[in-house]
Amino acid sequence: MAARCMLRPSTSGYVSLSLSFRRHPLSTAASTQYENILLGTPKPGVALTLFKELNNALKHLDDDNTVGAIVLTGSEKAFAAGADIKEMKNQTFSDVSNSNFIASWSSTIPCIRKPILSAVNGHALGGGCELALMTDIIYCSSTATFGQPEIKLGVIPGAGGSQRLTRIIGKSKAMDLILTGRNFSGIEAEKWGIAAKCFDSAQACVDGALDTAGRIAGLSRVAVRAAKEIVNKSQDLGIREGVEYERKVFHGLFGSRDQKIGMEAFVKKEKPQWAHE
Ligand code: CAA
Repeated sequence: MAARCMLRPSTSGYVSLSLSFRRHPLSTAASTQYENILLGTPKPGVALTLFKELNNALKHLDDDNTVGAIVLTGSEKAFAAGADIKEMKNQTFSDVSNSNFIASWSSTIPCIRKPILSAVNGHALGGGCELALMTDIIYCSSTATFGQPEIKLGVIPGAGGSQRLTRIIGKSKAMDLILTGRNFSGIEAEKWGIAAKCFDSAQACVDGALDTAGRIAGLSRVAVRAAKEIVNKSQDLGIREGVEYERKVFHGLFGSRDQKIGMEAFVKKEKPQWAHE
C-alpha cells in the first residue's frame, strides 16, 4: 500500500503514525533512518514518514520502552485507500501466491503488543479499512468513508476484512457490504460498533485518539499488555476457555511489581508510580 506516516514522538509515552496516499510537503532532514520511509520535521517534535516501512516502525515502537501506545492516522482526505491497484493489476495467481502477497503486513500488526489506536478521517477502503480493523481501537470522524470495495475489482478482501468485519457487525450486514462493495460512513461505523467513537471533525478525531493514547500510556504497561491480550483472546476462544484464560492472566499479574504498586497506591490514596515490571 502506498501511504505515508507521521511519527510524533512524545514525552507522554505515546507515538502517532499518520498515513495517507497523497504526499505532504516534507523536509527530508531525517530521511536516512529508514530505507523506504521518508522522515521530515514539519514542526519541532513531529516527523513525517512514508508508509512502506510501517511494520518496521511498529515493531521498533513495540520494542521502545518509552512508548506506551501508538496512534495511526492519515490526512483529512484519506486514512489509506487500500492496496495499490496499479501495482496489482498485472500480477498472476502464481506471483501473489509465491510471494504470499499481503501476508507480511496483515500478520505483523496483530503481533504488536502495545495498544494501537487508529484515527480514521477520509477514505479507509479495502486494505485501508482492514488496516483500521487490525488496530485495537478505532476512532473516526463523521466524514470518514469505510468500505471493502474489492468485489468491484473482481477480487475479495485479502487482509482479514471478511473475518474481522463479520465478527463485529454480524454475517448479514457483512455480506451486504462485502458482496456489494458499498461504502459506509463514520457515523455507521460507530453505530455498528466498528468505531468506538465518531467525532464531528478530523482534528477532534485525532485529538481524541491522542488523548486516549496518552491515558493508556500513563498506566502500567504490564497490565495494559495483559488487558490487550485477553480482549484479543475473546476473538479466538469460546466463552468458557476465554474466562479461564482471563483468570490465569489475572493470577499472573500478582507476580508483577505494578500490581503491588497500584494496589498500595490506592490504599495510601497516592498516584501510582508504575515500574512497568
Ligand atoms: N491503488 C492505486 N491507486 C489509487 C488507489 C489504489 N488503491 N486509490 C487511489 N489511487 C489513485 C488514483 O488512481 C488517482 O491516481 P491518478 O492521480 O494517477 O489518477 C489518485 O490516487 C487519486 O485518486 P482519485 O482521483 O480517484 O481521487 P478521488 O478523491 O476521486 O477518489 C478514492 C479517492 C475514493 C480513494 C478512489 O481513488 C478509490 O476508490 N480508490 C480505490 C479504492 C479501492 O478500491 N481500494 C481497495 C484496493 S484492493 C485492496 O485493498 C485489497 C486488499 O484487501 C488488501
